[in-house]
Amino acid sequence: MKVAVIGCGTIATNQHIPAYMKNERTEIRYFCDILPERARAAAEKNGVGTVVTDYREVLRDPEVQAISVCTPNHMHAQISIDALRAGKDVLCEKPAARSYEEALAMQRAQHETGRILNIGVVNRFNDAVNMVKSFIDDGKLGEVYHVIAHFRAHRSIPGLGGPFTDKAIAGGGALIDWGVHYLDIVMYCCGDPAPVTVSGETYCRLGRDIRNYAYETMWAGPPKYDGVYDVDDSVSALIRTEGPVISVEGAWAQNIGPAETYIDFIGDKGGIRLDYGAKFTYYSSMPGGEHGALLELRPEFHMRNQFENEINAFADAVENRRRMPSHIDTFILTQRIMQAVYDSAEAHRELVLAGGRQ
Ligand SMILES: NC(=O)c1ccc[n+]([C@@H]2O[C@H](COP(=O)([O-])OP(=O)(O)OC[C@H]3O[C@@H](n4cnc5c(N)ncnc54)[C@H](O)[C@@H]3O)[C@@H](O)[C@H]2O)c1
Repeated sequence: MKVAVIGCGTIATNQHIPAYMKNERTEIRYFCDILPERARAAAEKNGVGTVVTDYREVLRDPEVQAISVCTPNHMHAQISIDALRAGKDVLCEKPAARSYEEALAMQRAQHETGRILNIGVVNRFNDAVNMVKSFIDDGKLGEVYHVIAHFRAHRSIPGLGGPFTDKAIAGGGALIDWGVHYLDIVMYCCGDPAPVTVSGETYCRLGRDIRNYAYETMWAGPPKYDGVYDVDDSVSALIRTEGPVISVEGAWAQNIGPAETYIDFIGDKGGIRLDYGAKFTYYSSMPGGEHGALLELRPEFHMRNQFENEINAFADAVENRRRMPSHIDTFILTQRIMQAVYDSAEAHRELVLAGGRQ
């Protein structure tokens, strides 16, 4: 199966490309980047593929079956829609797009063409997340009525002044870039419940003075002093769904020390704390209150590379026309919630979503 990688930056070179190279069924036919040296470096390192700078050249090649879209967010919708219309299957990095509206246009193109459009919400392929989902599906938590998601760092604004912090390019900051993973894990584990009301506030405080932002390390850095910073560096939200209520506290940067990166699933029979990117602990009590004792269980298991899981599942979906859990039809709800948080923050009031987006 011939594939192409559009955008040869961090996520492509660290994850998508190595995973395609490892998969015996996929062959990378093109490396595409508007910066030719990036595409060239990827082709040289891997010893395969043709270097191009215009993704439309890739789409014209009938041999290419599928593409990974690994560009900044502002190009996700255009490249994905053009690729679907050219008959290609698409794995587009998260978030689907800068806005719910753009994501809906992608979904429409998927429905019209019948090609595959999956979004890179890679945690749906994480072994710990999948075990949490089966604990919930098996009833080990009883009814999950509240989920608390914390993604809070002291200092982790990526590439201050670059594509991640410019709203016109990224669509938003901490929520759409980092929180998307947390929200999407909650949605996945709880069966993708429809949102009903959303109340949110976002704050653009610590990054906006680019020159005086103090930090220890910066991924996607260093700061661009002539760049733009107009996105949320922290966010707070309460989301009522047809399933559990979701509380969200997130920050790329906050003036408080320790990072908190976990999701608590609270059920009436048991609860789970999922440590983000790691394993989880299950809390309950002995059946029937036996011995008046509490239970705490930390399963040990081997966690495979989630990006390899994702790329392998994508290749399988392309070959066997299978529907993946990261299909645009499921991810669209996560994108809708993020949009509602931003819209609510702008209006400073709760939004009622039942019966359509407001
Ligand atoms: N799944 C994850 O956990 C995860 C992690 C990091 C990034 N991402 C996502 O991946 C995407 C890329 O992030 P990154 O960190 O790799 O960024 P990056 O800036 O390192 O790489 C993006 C690359 O795309 C290229 N590019 C821009 N416009 C292009 C175009 N029109 N055609 C071809 N190439 C183009 C850039 O030159 C750059 O090399 C973002 O959407 C980000 O949200 C996902």
